[in-house]
Amino acid sequence: MKKKIGILTGGGDCPGLNPAIRGCVYAAEKYGYECVGLTDGWKGLMQGNTLPLDRVATEYMIMKGGTMLGTSRTNPAKTDGGIQKCLENFSKLGLHALVAMGGDDTLGVATRLYKDHKLSVVGVPKTMDNDLNVTDYTFGFDTSVTLAMQAAQSLQDTGASHHRIMVLEVMGRHAGWVALYTAIASAADFVCIPEKKIDTEAMLRKLKESYARKRFALVVTSEAAELPEAGEDKAKHAVDQFGHRILKDRGMGEHIAQFIEKQTGIETRFSVIGHMQRGGAPTLFDRMLATRVGMKAAELVRDGEFGMMSAIVGNKITGVPLESATGALKTVSKEWFDVMDVLF
Ligand code: F6P
Repeated sequence: MKKKIGILTGGGDCPGLNPAIRGCVYAAEKYGYECVGLTDGWKGLMQGNTLPLDRVATEYMIMKGGTMLGTSRTNPAKTDGGIQKCLENFSKLGLHALVAMGGDDTLGVATRLYKDHKLSVVGVPKTMDNDLNVTDYTFGFDTSVTLAMQAAQSLQDTGASHHRIMVLEVMGRHAGWVALYTAIASAADFVCIPEKKIDTEAMLRKLKESYARKRFALVVTSEAAELPEAGEDKAKHAVDQFGHRILKDRGMGEHIAQFIEKQTGIETRFSVIGHMQRGGAPTLFDRMLATRVGMKAAELVRDGEFGMMSAIVGNKITGVPLESATGALKTVSKEWFDVMDVLF
């Protein structure tokens, strides 16, 4: 009988998950394993819900956004007996190993299952936020930023026609990578990221200058940026099972647009790209990265390297301890502030 590898995808979906599942299945079969999918993240393992997974089922998945396994933000540690159920179902399903594909939250659970319960787990990093440590990139990021960049360019077309300032709000949670890359790639006039308090005077000066020159301007803001003038809202806000605030409710794009219009007297509009930037066909970069880290996960299982995660470091795919990737987020570092000073 072949040894069985369970694969799950947890947290927010992102383009690249299907190619990663495919890469893992192809490599696992090559090494003599069979695979099974666990549906909807940790919920699937807690409830023992599975989906058949093989080369044929995944053949054309390289070009599909989303995740064929489904996902959820279920946290077994926050569910009564959740961890125990995961352990029981791992045995009941006859799993030899588990490959968990996810971001900080999903891989945090994987780390705990490995450290506290010696479960044979391997991680695969994914997130459009690109905020995982120890890996240079996560798949999902390139596709999401490409979509946001295109949205930014569309806003420039209409902004230029109507002589308006346009504000684009993008996702990215507490890391400003998505906003920063979108702003750079679309020649935006200003960018707001959570790592750097918005210098409102500098922002208004820059926008007035830009507007005087070309009669439109574009600001890209992260959903988590802070506008001191808007005041920090102290109200209770909805959080997910991992304790994360639902950031879209902050309405950062709207706040910034209102502030700019009030201060400059220039008509200003905002748009929120939201989940549109998280779907769609993965870019070439994401297909390649996802395939490679997915394949590496099967290799880590084959070599008994549990508690590890596949990662891209330089252009090499390598194994790194799961623990080193979770806990602290990789946010925009100070050296990028110099880049921002030059470009915005
Ligand atoms: O972590 C990925 C992400 O897309 C964040 O950028 C965003 O804040 C969050 O997920 C949105 O989550 P949901 O899909 O649950 O609304």
